[in-house]
Amino acid sequence: MGAIDKHVQPFSRPFTMRDLVSHALTFLIGLSLGFLISLQLNSSFPGPLVVFQAASNLVSSTSPPVPPPSPRNGTFNSSTSISLKEECQSVMHNMSDQELLLAASSRVPRLQESSGHPKIAFMFLTRGPLPLGPLWEKFFEGHQGFYTIYVHSDPHYNRTVPQTSVFCGRRIPSQPVYWGTATMIDAERRLLANALLDPSNQRFVLLSDSCIPLFNFTTIYDYLITSNLSFLGLYDDPRKVGRGRYNPQMSPMINITNWRKGSQWFEMHREMALHVVSDQTYYSVFKQYCQRPCYNDEHYIPTLVNMFYVELNSNRSITWIDWSRGGPHPRKHGPADINHELLNKMRYGSECIYNGNTTSMCFLFARKFSPSTLKPLLSLLHFHS
Ligand SMILES: *[C@@H]1O[C@H](CO)[C@@H](O)[C@H](O)[C@H]1NC(C)=O
Ligand SMILES: *[C@@H]1O[C@H](CO)[C@@H](O)[C@H](O)[C@H]1NC(C)=O
Ligand SMILES: *[C@@H]1O[C@H](CO)[C@@H](O)[C@H](O)[C@H]1NC(C)=O
Ligand SMILES: *[C@@H]1O[C@H](CO)[C@@H](O)[C@H](O)[C@H]1NC(C)=O
Ligand SMILES: *[C@@H]1O[C@H](CO)[C@@H](O)[C@H](O)[C@H]1NC(C)=O
Ligand SMILES: *[C@@H]1O[C@H](CO)[C@@H](O)[C@H](O)[C@H]1NC(C)=O
Ligand SMILES: *[C@@H]1O[C@H](CO)[C@@H](O)[C@H](O)[C@H]1NC(C)=O
Ligand SMILES: *[C@@H]1O[C@H](CO)[C@@H](O)[C@H](O)[C@H]1NC(C)=O
Ligand SMILES: *[C@@H]1O[C@H](CO)[C@@H](O)[C@H](O)[C@H]1NC(C)=O
Repeated sequence: MGAIDKHVQPFSRPFTMRDLVSHALTFLIGLSLGFLISLQLNSSFPGPLVVFQAASNLVSSTSPPVPPPSPRNGTFNSSTSISLKEECQSVMHNMSDQELLLAASSRVPRLQESSGHPKIAFMFLTRGPLPLGPLWEKFFEGHQGFYTIYVHSDPHYNRTVPQTSVFCGRRIPSQPVYWGTATMIDAERRLLANALLDPSNQRFVLLSDSCIPLFNFTTIYDYLITSNLSFLGLYDDPRKVGRGRYNPQMSPMINITNWRKGSQWFEMHREMALHVVSDQTYYSVFKQYCQRPCYNDEHYIPTLVNMFYVELNSNRSITWIDWSRGGPHPRKHGPADINHELLNKMRYGSECIYNGNTTSMCFLFARKFSPSTLKPLLSLLHFHS
């Protein structure tokens, strides 16, 4: 562990939707989906990986990216530039993190006040590209109005997204993330806060670039919207990798008995999301005292929820991860692993409580999948019957 991932690919400057709106220039299309570079978010279990170099000069070059094929239909004409008749609506803004969190925490409106359907916010925490993007494109196809997408990626990442993509315009103002540090929590809160600004968002899923959906959109939508509880896995782990990471200096704000561990990949409802972005007290304690080998992303939210919001939580995660082999890394699936048996094991191979009933359908998402699983997954996962 501790390997430094140097695969981060810098491209031209980050999103330029603002410019697009004002200039209505033609614009070359870049591809960040289906970009087959192994840039998986590593689990934070192992030593933290320093992933990104500090971003100091984000506003550098504006040279247009080379247009790669469109992920939608793969027949994109590389000598074509597309004119912006209907540019993607950008979620970019100029708010500082502080202003953003403040704006989000005061964004109380519940369902009644928002127009249209309740939506699910899919929040992608990535380094740059989304190698499994084409799978997600298929997943979202035909369900406009029922979801929103937010992407947090390294500020240096300068690829743009085709206008036809569901990811177009969905990148939020981001900061570098150093694995195993508070910057990870910052990124999660930044995603939540951006998503909270849209009052129609009622459920919030955190996803990595190696996550896949296990069911079609309607199934996942119904499952989440029909639940009152958040799906946050949390438990008291007596081992060194659990309680061992507690720092006694956190007392009396946080005692060892309050301490919990859980998967970073959460799903929460609006009320819980509001609590998480509004918290300053416990965030500060964690920022100060939860440092290597303490990993904020595995302890901050679980501990906060355990202390104050247990009744809002199901205590289980809906993102399937294979820890069965032990060790610090979860299993990463390659193309040879992909078959119906595996997918069905993930979908129905467990038992849990859902809305008071026992069910075998406990996981809606799964990780980790290498970029090379895209093809086999596309041939096995049919989101439209
Ligand atoms: C992206 O940014 C890097 C610098 O970080 C630069 O070297 C590269 O040329 C840019 N790529 C494009 C396509 O503009
Ligand atoms: C490719 O997809 C875009 C948007 O989905 C569509 O406008 C275009 O006609 C498609 N091209 C082909 C060749 O299918
Ligand atoms: C690509 O686009 C150019 C200019 O728009 C056009 O002349 C050419 O025929 C296109 N090629 C294909 C294969 O569609
Ligand atoms: C954001 O910054 C741009 C210039 O970078 C400015 O034109 C725009 O008015 C700002 N928007 C807000 C909401 O402050
Ligand atoms: C932690 O323990 C101390 C001493 O027993 C107690 O005063 C304090 O209230 C506890 N804190 C929490 C958050 O339970
Ligand atoms: C979650 O765990 C807490 C105890 O840690 C318990 O009080 C609560 O009832 C549990 N929630 C569910 C839905 O099981
Ligand atoms: C959801 O919460 C409401 C009120 O808080 C309660 O009446 C209802 O039974 C809950 N539904 C489920 C499925 O738990
Ligand atoms: C289990 O779910 C069904 C609907 O799916 C519902 O009719 C039934 O009341 C539930 N049972 C319990 C114990 O909640
Ligand atoms: C989604 O999956 C469910 C259950 O597998 C199926 O009944 C439904 O028809 C599917 N919906 C669509 C839009 O394909």
